[in-house]
Amino acid sequence: MNQPNIDIDSIRKQFPILHQQVNGKPLVYLDNAATTQKPQSVIDALTKYYSVDNANIHRAAHTLAARSTEYFEDTRKTIQQFINAREAEECIFTKGVTESINLVAQTWGRKFLSAGDEVVITALEHHSNIVPWQIICEEKGAILKVIPINDAGELLMDEYEKLLSAKTKLVACVWVSNALGTINPVKVIIEKAHAVGAVVLLDGAQACSHLEVDVQALNCDFLTVSSHKLYGPTGVGVLYGKRALLEAMPPYQGGGEMIKEVTFTHTTYNEIPYKFEAGTPNIGDVIAFKYALDFVSGIGKYNIATHENDLLNYFSKGIQLINQSTNQSITLIGTAQQKISVQSFTINGMHHFDAGMMLDAKGIAVRTGHHCTQPLMQRLGLDGTIRVSFSVYNTREEIDILLYALTKLLRLS
Ligand code: ALA
Repeated sequence: MNQPNIDIDSIRKQFPILHQQVNGKPLVYLDNAATTQKPQSVIDALTKYYSVDNANIHRAAHTLAARSTEYFEDTRKTIQQFINAREAEECIFTKGVTESINLVAQTWGRKFLSAGDEVVITALEHHSNIVPWQIICEEKGAILKVIPINDAGELLMDEYEKLLSAKTKLVACVWVSNALGTINPVKVIIEKAHAVGAVVLLDGAQACSHLEVDVQALNCDFLTVSSHKLYGPTGVGVLYGKRALLEAMPPYQGGGEMIKEVTFTHTTYNEIPYKFEAGTPNIGDVIAFKYALDFVSGIGKYNIATHENDLLNYFSKGIQLINQSTNQSITLIGTAQQKISVQSFTINGMHHFDAGMMLDAKGIAVRTGHHCTQPLMQRLGLDGTIRVSFSVYNTREEIDILLYALTKLLRLS
């Protein structure tokens, strides 16, 4: 890859939270897979919304309501372009990826799964792409099957093919593993699933801030997007679905907005996307999410990915050097050929939680534990890892601080 065309200093200046001391040290924020920080434009959009525009949407005739509705629907058009959906109506706002997946399981699953049908997931899934399928499979008598992985954290595609049959009704697959950073070969996964007539849900929670997203080129049936992992507010997600599927699905929740007409004996439902947006949504955060998408598009995914890959390589080389002088004290977990800037690791003789606490004392924020992927940890024979995840505003200098802190920790282990 060529050098990224970005000015990291000016990007960092847009993130007020980064410029603080934590435990007496400059903050080094390396927990971006859990949630990214928010640029000033997103914070300003939230403040402006509540200072100037706040009103409920799609309901009243007054000016503030019209403005709020327009801005809310602007975000829908922006996410449509961001993922290249054919129509804005195919993008439903939810409160996050977890709700997006539960929506599909509880509506598509309730209508289209029957006893003996099979749902295929992968060994890399987050709990949010396991448990909703377990719940609906148990209710329907359907069977959940799991694509296994190798020790590097890559899917065994031959095994995937063996799992597919006319019984496979849905493949629910994470695009990028939150715990290991593995990028799955989703185009092939989708083609093979479609060849047996299955629909495919891609969990894009970790992918959408790093990789180009084109749902039409991928030909996925559903895609889930998280705002807060994309520099946007928490409490907002998107479910993309192909129109024909969304129209065939029953509603998720009943309430205002999702109806066309209600009597005490019968209700008819609204068009998509409103059929799936019962109740007053998270208006302010949805409106601010547009500014996060604009922030990412303004920099460009290529530039973001190039910079983040450089950080990942720099970190991996630093760990190699530490290992050479400390008898291989650190084990990298998740070494797939194709991966984003997420790296799990363990330290010999030190519990991941203790390492996380000690790094925090030096102002370094990392995630420790099972990363909401307990079955994956069981497969790897671990109860957890330390995980660093690099974002567009991170620097090689911050990785130097982390590597130095790790060498000091190793003296204690
Ligand atoms: N899914 C988020 C993570 O990986 C919370 O940390």
